[in-house]
Amino acid sequence: MRGSLVRRVRHWVANRGWRATLAEVLRQIGSAVLWRAIEGVSDRGTGEAHPFDLRYGVDTSGLIWGERLRSGQQGEYWATGYYGISPSIFWKAMDRLGLDWTQYTFVDIGCGKGRALMLASRYPFRRALGVELSAELAAVTNQNLKSFRAEWRLDLPAEAIAGDATLLQLPPGALVLYLYHPFAAPVMREFLTHLRASLREEPRELYLLYVNPELDELVREFALRKLWDERFAMEEEDAAADRFGANNERVIAYRIEADT
Ligand SMILES: C[S@@+](CC[C@H](N)C(=O)[O-])C[C@H]1O[C@@H](n2cnc3c(N)ncnc32)[C@H](O)[C@@H]1O
Repeated sequence: MRGSLVRRVRHWVANRGWRATLAEVLRQIGSAVLWRAIEGVSDRGTGEAHPFDLRYGVDTSGLIWGERLRSGQQGEYWATGYYGISPSIFWKAMDRLGLDWTQYTFVDIGCGKGRALMLASRYPFRRALGVELSAELAAVTNQNLKSFRAEWRLDLPAEAIAGDATLLQLPPGALVLYLYHPFAAPVMREFLTHLRASLREEPRELYLLYVNPELDELVREFALRKLWDERFAMEEEDAAADRFGANNERVIAYRIEADT
């Protein structure tokens, strides 16, 4: 019990800083009811499945806070948590980006249970790859990719690998990287450093889609040029299923030119 509390506080400090952690602790001490509510939504299996899962026979629903995502890897203290992207947000952002997809490989940085990888199979990418810190979630993604049947699914190779994004050997060729706010600043910095090293080794065209872009300033420090910054409205069924009660999401698209 005590171990789990210490772990939770360490995680909050890593992700949100001391001030926010203190506010959180005070809030929780002041309200046992709120505490129970937070615990309730943290559970892996509770809550209704998103219509996407019911329609396509997969398991991508649920919210798992970062402190509960035990991967045994160093990066786990900076993981924000698992939560699948709203399909309507993903599709609106991709349609806004509007590339000649056949030239690109899609890479989901922190693919969780693979919802975005499945959504990406609507576009004719060369291939789709996900990396996920939690081996358990990466296995769920690969199971989902096997059972997923959708009339719009294209036949592109797709898979998830378990591991830390900061160590991922990026696939060759032009890339669309996709991030749904997977980690806090220390890991983001490490990831962007790794990305630039990979680009120096193999200069190529790269786009980055960042959903819930809390670390936009940091991303721009790494000379990724912002293409657009938009707030997209969710379709009704996504808003109804949203565990945070949101009905829109902010997305930023960046580009790195091959010779930077
Ligand atoms: C908000 S979820 C997004 C899931 C999925 N990309 C989607 O859009 O549906 C973020 C995921 O990033 C993963 N993650 C966090 N830190 C990571 C790291 N260092 N390397 C790889 N994955 C990481 C978490 O385990 C979590 O599953």
